[in-house]
Amino acid sequence: MYGIDKSKLPRHVAIIMDGNGRWAKKNALKRLTGHKKGADAVRNAVRTCRELGIEYLTLYAFSVENWSRPKDEVRALMALLEEYLNSELQEMIDNGIKLSTIGNIRALPEKVQGILNNAVQKTAMNRKMVLTLALSYGGRDEIIEVVRKIVEDVEAGKLEKTSITKNIFSNYLFTSGMPDPDLLIRTSGEYRISNFLLWQMAYTEFYFADVLWPDFSKECLINAILDYQKRERRFGMTSDQLSGN
Ligand code: IPE
Ligand code: IPE
Ligand code: MG
Repeated sequence: MYGIDKSKLPRHVAIIMDGNGRWAKKNALKRLTGHKKGADAVRNAVRTCRELGIEYLTLYAFSVENWSRPKDEVRALMALLEEYLNSELQEMIDNGIKLSTIGNIRALPEKVQGILNNAVQKTAMNRKMVLTLALSYGGRDEIIEVVRKIVEDVEAGKLEKTSITKNIFSNYLFTSGMPDPDLLIRTSGEYRISNFLLWQMAYTEFYFADVLWPDFSKECLINAILDYQKRERRFGMTSDQLSGN
């Protein structure tokens, strides 16, 4: 399909959806309109990933740093999230999409938390694709939270200090049970990870697209996957080792 090699699909795609504000500015519109257009692009990306058979899609929707934006913008983003969840729930159910979240969900307005919990519950049995929304998410906060929980468990005698391994550490993350992202996409021509999935992206392939998020089409997503499929993931080894020479 679309020239994509089904046997080499990334299992887990993560996206930093950036550029809504600049898209609005470019089109002489309000930032909120940019975010609304961004929500359409989210719907599109979810459908495409589901169609392609991607197992895990993780979207950076709101960072812990984004709380510092003007109050009106934060409020509008929360309202938009609510609207998105309400309008997409049925499609998620119909398409076998399991919704999950990462981040400090308790920092979100209670109403949003309620809608999220309901959607997570209603889709819990779905198996076709896991859609994870990163909300009030910060990679460093996540790591600190893990350290706290590990210390707690060591102090309570539930965990031996010497048995803390990379795997054990991963099990304490929000993403426990998920494979690490194979592919990270960031739109809007910025080359940074902005505190996203710091631990999990140790060996992720990065793809930076110049398009602003509202313009990120199905074709853009397919291009990112095609580019990913051309890469050789060496994980520190030599090319010859990987090809068995
Ligand atoms: C991404 O678009 C959406 C969120 C971070 C919530 P931005 O709002 O960051 O858009 P720019 O970077 O200002 O263009
Ligand atoms: C990253 O985008 C966060 C999300 C896409 C939710 P930002 O626009 O907040 O990142 P910076 O500030 O440019 O690094
Ligand atoms: Mg931005």
